[in-house]
Amino acid sequence: MNIIDFLKEQKKWTVSKYKLWKAYHSDYEEYNHWQYHNPNVKTQNALEAKILRQTHVIEKGMSLSHPREKFGVQKALELLDFIDEFVECGYDIKDSVPVLNALGVIKAYLAYHEERGFKPEDVLVRFEKYSEYLLTEEKYGIIEVNKADMEKEVHSSFPEFFMSRHSVRQFSERTIDIEDIKKAVKLAMKAPSACNRQSCKAYFYQDKDVNKELGKVIAGNTGFDGEVQNYIVVTSDMSAFYDPFERNQVYVDGGIFTMALVEALHYYGIASCVLQNGEYKERNLKFKEICKNIPENEKIILFIAIGYYKDDFTYAVSHRKNVEDVLIVR
Ligand SMILES: Cc1cc2nc3c(=O)[nH]c(=O)nc-3n(C[C@H](O)[C@H](O)[C@H](O)COP(=O)(O)O)c2cc1C
Repeated sequence: MNIIDFLKEQKKWTVSKYKLWKAYHSDYEEYNHWQYHNPNVKTQNALEAKILRQTHVIEKGMSLSHPREKFGVQKALELLDFIDEFVECGYDIKDSVPVLNALGVIKAYLAYHEERGFKPEDVLVRFEKYSEYLLTEEKYGIIEVNKADMEKEVHSSFPEFFMSRHSVRQFSERTIDIEDIKKAVKLAMKAPSACNRQSCKAYFYQDKDVNKELGKVIAGNTGFDGEVQNYIVVTSDMSAFYDPFERNQVYVDGGIFTMALVEALHYYGIASCVLQNGEYKERNLKFKEICKNIPENEKIILFIAIGYYKDDFTYAVSHRKNVEDVLIVR
């Protein structure tokens, strides 16, 4: 390479680095402005997201094989605080699927505890004023499933198959057959990826100790870590991308790949629950230390807790919004 070309390349690279810095700075500004922890963010969407998350913590608690006795009182009270805040901000409960869902879940939570001889009085008292909004025709909280019935849905039409997958936090003790994982990953590889670069990988560790160590560091598996047979680690290769505009592509490809993978696992009889990677640097280093063979250029996008379905199990409903709230036709 002659000196002119060399200088041109250096200039291009310096400009690209500056653009990347600017893009990340702009990401910082935007996220800092809009994340719901920002006390100034009181939009209906932000308050609903906070309510959805807290609601899910409670329904998830009920969906475990062995929930902690009297669990969730503090969480339910916080959820009621969030609902109070929603009302104080002038939003209407009747227009909000997430708030109606929250109330349905609190009711299911109270019934769950009552069946076990526990009455969380503080929650009951504060819940009372919202009970008029309850929608009786909807199902909230948890649903019991029989594996044989579910399998009929799996091998039925596409919508039935698709609707029969749920994040599951209870697993059978059966050891995972690597052939089932191979079949599922092969299907998941049909997921679209940016310019077909196929940046994702799924790491499956047969070694029980590695899974145990992963389980200790992963957040979001509280209360069911002990039942997880294996964790699949989904990574995406940063070196597959080339420009500031592609800076988030690892997450996009990783997300699409994961969706295909959990559906494929479900098809082959494997229950799963996606677990987010908190993305803190120290924790990531710890993950890489546990998963010794993941190269530095690969980003850990998330984890998937897996195990075969139990004959009978429960899952959290995770009620969805209305299609009109998601599909915006103009
Ligand atoms: C990116 C991502 C991260 C998630 N993290 C967790 C988690 O840390 N712990 C957990 O129990 N579930 C987790 N989930 C599962 C969601 O709670 C679940 O997908 C949602 O409630 C919808 O329910 P469904 O999957 O049963 O339809 C995660 C899902 C996604 C897509």
